[in-house]
Amino acid sequence: MSKKIMIQGGKPLNGEINISGAKNAAVAIIPAAILVDGVCRLENIPNIVDVMVQLDIVKGMGAGVRFLDPTTVEIDATHIGTDDPPYELMRKLRASYYLMGALLSRYNKAEVAMPGGCNFGGVRPIDLHIKGFEALGAVTSIKEGGFVCVEAENGLEGKTIFLDVVSVGATMNIMLAATLAKGTTTIENAAKEPHIVDLANFLNAMGADICGAGTDVIKIHGVEKLHGGTYSIIPDQIEAGTYMAAVAATGGSLTLTNIIPKHLECISTKLIEMGADVEYTDDTVRVTRTGPLHKCNIKTLPYPGFPTDMQPQMAIPLCLADGASVITEGVWDSRFRYVDELRKMGADVHVDGKVAVFNGVPKLMGAPVTAYDLRAGAAMIIAGLAAHGETVISDTRHIERGYDDIVGKLQSVGAQIEYVEMPDEGEQA
Ligand code: UD1
Repeated sequence: MSKKIMIQGGKPLNGEINISGAKNAAVAIIPAAILVDGVCRLENIPNIVDVMVQLDIVKGMGAGVRFLDPTTVEIDATHIGTDDPPYELMRKLRASYYLMGALLSRYNKAEVAMPGGCNFGGVRPIDLHIKGFEALGAVTSIKEGGFVCVEAENGLEGKTIFLDVVSVGATMNIMLAATLAKGTTTIENAAKEPHIVDLANFLNAMGADICGAGTDVIKIHGVEKLHGGTYSIIPDQIEAGTYMAAVAATGGSLTLTNIIPKHLECISTKLIEMGADVEYTDDTVRVTRTGPLHKCNIKTLPYPGFPTDMQPQMAIPLCLADGASVITEGVWDSRFRYVDELRKMGADVHVDGKVAVFNGVPKLMGAPVTAYDLRAGAAMIIAGLAAHGETVISDTRHIERGYDDIVGKLQSVGAQIEYVEMPDEGEQA
């Protein structure tokens, strides 16, 4: 038996959903709290497994972690140690690599388990992170059991680092390492995602001296120490985008609250091309789709381009559009494993390497499918909501890693969706 998500599809979504704090900002800001001498209060924390694991990791290293309410947590890293990190938890989470930059910055030494997390793109290297640490004066070694050890005996010293590939993780990890280093570090060809700006804003609020985050040149002037403070994490661009894609696929009208319009521009542009209406206020967006869906082409790119983490979700309205749409994956080597599941639901898709052609069909049909990773899982939910009949999604743990109460939020806007305990394939009922 295992937990699955069951959906009776074919119903439009109508109503309002509040967007939670950004996963990819929170999983970097929690390790960043290790740099702070004192207590950090973090607001707008999303209730998702990746964040809870990250909090358990810093707690396991000796930090005080205390929830004041469901979305506000205090982290006190004053007595944190490097001796006995909880390696098994680290392996569960790709973002545990941020502990490297944070520990290296504070203790000149870090030993972490090679990170886990979503495995949609084949190999997910960390060579650029390591190259950055080494440029700042650290020496790296790989130890038995899959551990990476980085150490800077004489401390880290600021340098100019050019990233060969635009990497979110490497940009943030180098920012963390350089925050308490001597002198100035310049990251050229830096990533510009909203969570990079959020990490820089958090660090600056605690006393760091970082400028240029959000452009492709970031300068980090090292400071001696950081002090405690309060910081509110930005809303999740991808969670908002997921509900926008969902209402485009099902039809209806959804208002999303607690959003930053600028972060959703490229997603809105594509939804409008597909035939949806998108209206903003300062911190809400309403997406309405009543007419037919039109084909459109999407290419994923680093921010401000179309986010790769929205690619599988946007594929669902395109499965139902009038004509052939092309999606080109421009960030990861491959990210189309989920289309095998969509084919079980009647989608007509051809994949060749980084390009997928979606020939629109009049309807999708419910089927048993698997959530292969976090965003593929979100796409399966959207497909189930748009399909006729019953869809049952297995491996929901991937979805819980990154979506705060997705089932409850969708129920509140008219979806017939619920968690069920069901026998696994091949198991006797
Ligand atoms: C982050 C996000 C992930 C998103 C991705 C791209 C988190 C926790 N995860 O992942 O959801 O899909 O950004 O927006 O924030 N690369 C290298 N060497 C490296 C690092 C990356 O070659 O050392 C390459 C990767 O293979 C990939 C590209 O750079 O082709 C982008 O990866 P990167 O931006 O680093 O992704 P993550 O930070 O792992």
